[in-house]
Amino acid sequence: MHCTRKITNDIYWVGANDRRLALFENIFPIPRGVSYNSYLLTDEKNVLLDTVDFAVSRQFLENIDFLLQGKALDYLIINHMEPDHCALIETLAEKFPEMRLVCTEKAASMIRQFYTLNMDDRIQTVKEMDTLDTGKHKLTFLMAPFVHWPEVMVTYDATEKLLYSADAFGCFGALDGRIFEDELNFDRDWLDDARRYYTNIVGKYGNQVQALLKKVSALDVQTVCPLHGPVWRDHIPYFIEKYQKWSTYQPESSAVMIAYASMYGNTENAAEVLAGMLAEEGITDISVYDVSSTHLSSLVSEAFRCSHIVLACPTYNAAVYPVMETFLTDIKELNLQNRKAALIENGSWASVSGKLMTQKLETMKGMELLAPAFPLKSTLKAEQMADLKKLAGTIAASVRQSEQ
Ligand code: FEO
Repeated sequence: MHCTRKITNDIYWVGANDRRLALFENIFPIPRGVSYNSYLLTDEKNVLLDTVDFAVSRQFLENIDFLLQGKALDYLIINHMEPDHCALIETLAEKFPEMRLVCTEKAASMIRQFYTLNMDDRIQTVKEMDTLDTGKHKLTFLMAPFVHWPEVMVTYDATEKLLYSADAFGCFGALDGRIFEDELNFDRDWLDDARRYYTNIVGKYGNQVQALLKKVSALDVQTVCPLHGPVWRDHIPYFIEKYQKWSTYQPESSAVMIAYASMYGNTENAAEVLAGMLAEEGITDISVYDVSSTHLSSLVSEAFRCSHIVLACPTYNAAVYPVMETFLTDIKELNLQNRKAALIENGSWASVSGKLMTQKLETMKGMELLAPAFPLKSTLKAEQMADLKKLAGTIAASVRQSEQ
């Protein structure tokens, strides 16, 4: 049975949810599932904006058939050529032989890479500010390269003041019938997944997101239709403000993230003691994570949220403990910047993790180490408690300063 929702008089959500997929992109856990959003504009010309993943193709095709009622699909606009959105292009091209494909030049070459069916004579490439009239609606195309693939564009419907935003403003999580953000408690139930989605998938491309936000700010946008997650009608400035922070690598909260690696609980103990000292200093937003048991995507997301990051880690094979090394490499690759940091190193002999973590942080823009790495030799000793308390005081003072 079809399962669609009306967005405006002429525009329908024809996407579908996947609650079976365990790992998005075969890497990110999605315990709440994910939605693949596609939108059908019914006008003098019928236009579909993006398709969906193969996994939900049956529902998607039923949705389109129901709304078209035997009429032709005239255009497929391809804002993004990643397979979770472009999987059904060939299927639709065969089903609707007159359908034209509207996309960027780069997307056209990706169509040739992904598909064997030759669709060249049906491809209509567009550039910045090109338009498409569909009858009542006029669509304008805005290039959004690397948000988050190079071929991406977004589409603006001036008639409805509606932006089809591709991956921008997307979110993990299946839609439980409520496809509009104003039908949900986004800040309470969805923000963490939105942050985890953005930081891990788009996080590297802050400059490109900034360029898109600048273009969007020049438009009158009253509805945002992303390729994943809820559609935005209200509270658009709330989400744009989050994007401003994330894409400029500014912390969202004055908060301390303590990420520790610990083989036998001794480095963990020091992390716990420091967390308690920070609480006694009056810091309220403190979170402690074991890097070995917390998914990397959650660690990354939390690093983007918090103003202060403490890394506690043993030396392992004359290097940084591997899981911590992976975390550090990932936040560097994702361009995380502008954080205050502190380190705890542990080594029963030949300790180098503090030095190596320091070197890694020094290669990242705007990272400020608040103190030299705090040294542990196997375990935290009573005579070190005063020094650890001093470190907690330094971190707490810096957190308070970041609140001003
Ligand atoms: Fe949901 Fe970049 O694809």
